[in-house]
Amino acid sequence: MQIRPFRPEDTEAVIALWQDAGLTRPWNDPHKDIARKLAVQPELFVVAVDEDERVIGSVMAGYDGHRGWMNYLAAADDARGLGVGRALVAHVEAALLALGCPKVNLQVRSTNSGVVDFYEHLGYRNDDTVSLGKRLIED
Ligand SMILES: CC(C)(COP(=O)(O)OP(=O)(O)OC[C@H]1O[C@@H](n2cnc3c(N)ncnc32)[C@H](O)[C@@H]1OP(=O)(O)O)[C@@H](O)C(=O)NCCC(=O)NCCS
Repeated sequence: MQIRPFRPEDTEAVIALWQDAGLTRPWNDPHKDIARKLAVQPELFVVAVDEDERVIGSVMAGYDGHRGWMNYLAAADDARGLGVGRALVAHVEAALLALGCPKVNLQVRSTNSGVVDFYEHLGYRNDDTVSLGKRLIED
C-alpha cells in the first residue's frame, strides 16, 4: 500500500469508495467537495492505493490555524482490518503536526457510532461537545 496525494483521475474511484463506505449524503455533492478541497490545502487530501494503483482508502484533512480536521476517512470493504485506516490517520496527523497544528478534530455521525471504537483505539477521545453547523452554499 502507498499513500499519495489525490489526483483528478482518482475522482470516480474515490466517490465510489465514499458511497460504499456510507459517507455520502444527498446534500453534499462529492464532486463539489473534491473541487473545493483541490482549491484549499490539496496536499492534505490523500488516497491509499494498492500495488495495482487501485484506490483502497481516502482521507481529506485541513488545518484552520487552530485545529486540524479530518473528513472522508474510508477504507475499501475488501481492504478493512489491514491497517489502511490507521495508516491514513497517521499520515494526516504527521502532516498536520508538521504545520504546527496542536489538535485534530473530527465528527462522527450519530448513525455511525460503531466507528467511535476505531478512533478511540487510535487515541481519540470524545470531547463532549455539541456539534453545530450552518450551510452557506446549497449543493
Ligand atoms: C473506519 C475505517 C476507516 C477503519 O479502516 P480499517 O482500514 O479497517 O482500519 P485498520 O485496519 O487500520 O484498523 C486499525 C486498528 O483499529 C481497529 N479497528 C478497526 N475498526 C474498528 C472498529 N470498528 N472498532 C474498534 N476497533 C477497530 C483494528 O483492529 C486495528 O487495530 P490494531 O492496529 O491495533 O491491530 C473503516 O472501517 C471504514 O472505512 N468505515 C466506513 C467509513 C467510516 O465510517 N469512516 C469514518 C467516518 S467518521
